[in-house]
Amino acid sequence: MVPIIVIQNLSFTYPDGKPALRDINLQVQPGEKIGIVGPNGAGKSTLMYHLNGVFTGQGKLFISGLELIKNNFPHIRSLVGLVFQNPDDQLFSPTVFEDVAYGPYYQGLEQSIVKDRVQQALKAVQMSDFIDRNPYHLSTGEKKRVAIATVLSMQPEILVFDEPTAGLDPRARRELIELLFELPQTMLIATHDLALIKQLAPRTVLLSKGRIVADGPTNAIFGNETLLKENGLI
Ligand SMILES: Nc1ncnc2c1ncn2[C@@H]1O[C@H](COP(=O)(O)OP(=O)(O)O)[C@@H](O)[C@H]1O
Ligand SMILES: [Mg+2]
Repeated sequence: MVPIIVIQNLSFTYPDGKPALRDINLQVQPGEKIGIVGPNGAGKSTLMYHLNGVFTGQGKLFISGLELIKNNFPHIRSLVGLVFQNPDDQLFSPTVFEDVAYGPYYQGLEQSIVKDRVQQALKAVQMSDFIDRNPYHLSTGEKKRVAIATVLSMQPEILVFDEPTAGLDPRARRELIELLFELPQTMLIATHDLALIKQLAPRTVLLSKGRIVADGPTNAIFGNETLLKENGLI
């Protein structure tokens, strides 16, 4: 199968001189669900932000065979939906409708199609009744769902989540995991929530100090106590 994501020798240093990613090599097959784990500061978020060009480091990235270079950004951003850790970074409109419509509208889709996309996306996250609400007044769990809808409305092939369960109460967390389980897209999930990965992701990539230190079946990685301890995961 042709990989849907190819990352070759990706390194990235923040402007203050701090290396955050070092020689990352990763291939993802269509439909895979992959957990990205590692201690604070390992580079998880930085890696996620590279997948649709929020950051660009040294090395090469390909999404569905398309190289991640400036000319391809609009196309790639419709293929890769990035869900930020904090939904307040994703929601900025006076109504849920406008936030979820933003992506497809920006893609230049016709108004009736945009409306359909919004309805479909809100239905998928079970937030249809919230279409006219102000996103700022929702609970964190509801905001998270709407934030996911803002990327689903673009009908992306790949979903990238940064700490999707952070800040959720147990029920909201469980419902979110059920939702992620139902979504068919290829998924990368950066998280500290090891139980989430065990439930959702057959493959795990372990990052430490900007490097991939393990990449394999989730069961094997989670069964390796020494590896988990060495990397501050338990
Ligand atoms: N905006 C930034 N400027 C400078 N350094 C940053 C910035 N964001 C993150 N870093 C540093 O880059 C490294 C990786 O961070 P990050 O990707 O946020 O890790 P993680 O998501 O795994 O906790 C850390 O050492 C962090 O301090
Ligand atoms: Mg992070």
